[in-house]
Amino acid sequence: MEWSQILVCLFCPSLALHPRKDIVVTASDDHLWKMWAFPNGNIIMTGEGHTDWLSGCCFHPSGTKLVTSSGDTTVRIWDFTKGECILTLEGHSHAVWDCSWHACGDFVASASMDNTSKIWDINSERCRYTMRGHKDSVNSIEFLPFSNTVLTSSADKTLSLWDARTGLCAQTFYGHLHSCNHATFNMKGDTIVSCDSYGVVKFWDVRRVTPMISIDAGPHPGNQVVFDPSGHLVALASNDGTVKTLNVSSGQLSSLAGHEGEVQSVVFDHRAEHLLSGGSDGTVRLWC
Ligand SMILES: *[C@@H]1O[C@H](CO)[C@@H](O)[C@H](O)[C@H]1NC(C)=O
Ligand SMILES: *[C@@H]1O[C@H](CO)[C@@H](O)[C@H](O)[C@H]1NC(C)=O
Repeated sequence: MEWSQILVCLFCPSLALHPRKDIVVTASDDHLWKMWAFPNGNIIMTGEGHTDWLSGCCFHPSGTKLVTSSGDTTVRIWDFTKGECILTLEGHSHAVWDCSWHACGDFVASASMDNTSKIWDINSERCRYTMRGHKDSVNSIEFLPFSNTVLTSSADKTLSLWDARTGLCAQTFYGHLHSCNHATFNMKGDTIVSCDSYGVVKFWDVRRVTPMISIDAGPHPGNQVVFDPSGHLVALASNDGTVKTLNVSSGQLSSLAGHEGEVQSVVFDHRAEHLLSGGSDGTVRLWC
């Protein structure tokens, strides 16, 4: 893969892909999010309102709204047709690290440095459940596609699955020896991949709650990990400034060099023709 640098945002910890279109949102340390078309790199919209760094963002399943999480302890809902923030969800006592939208569009989930995650009801504008169990910062959160299961990763070295209808922890995955920075499902929902602060990547069988494979992509921290739509390839945003790709069947690891600083975020486009990566060098790079 080769890179072409297309988007320049000042700081860029997080990326989210539109559910259908070639549009990406970057959420940054400068308190703003920006929506871009790719590959041309045109800015479509900018969101201003958070009073501290943004950590995560996720599109509503219809693509008409966005949820963002921030160091200002809030979660915000943005409506693209109104071009503004329509709801601010307050309740976390520390920075919020990540957010995710449920497939039905009525609920969002958030993960915080306050060691809890929350399920928010967008219609009643209330926190429905505070999910307690992790013993340290909750670093990432994601709904299993088309399900009520929520996946969290934590600095307590574990991953957990939660039932969003009850707010209760269903499973905890033990095996990482260091803080887990991120975890995600494959499209089928039967496998989880996670990465930790020493660059170790683990694959987990969801049903058996057991680790299947462990790959050392360290020693630098892995910041985010994603499956491609086929589930055969995984990309890792590494603190060593590279994007690492991992062939799931052969275990072959490759490095994509180009960023001039830590890589914070990676996302595959819908056809897996492109991989986008966001780095602390303030660029988003498109790899094809
Ligand atoms: C979160 O967990 C850490 C590590 O166990 C602890 O030091 C901290 O006080 C906890 N934070 C809250 C808000 O409970
Ligand atoms: C992964 O490796 C296998 C075996 O070497 C190869 O056949 C396959 O094409 C590779 N897949 C990807 C997505 O690169």
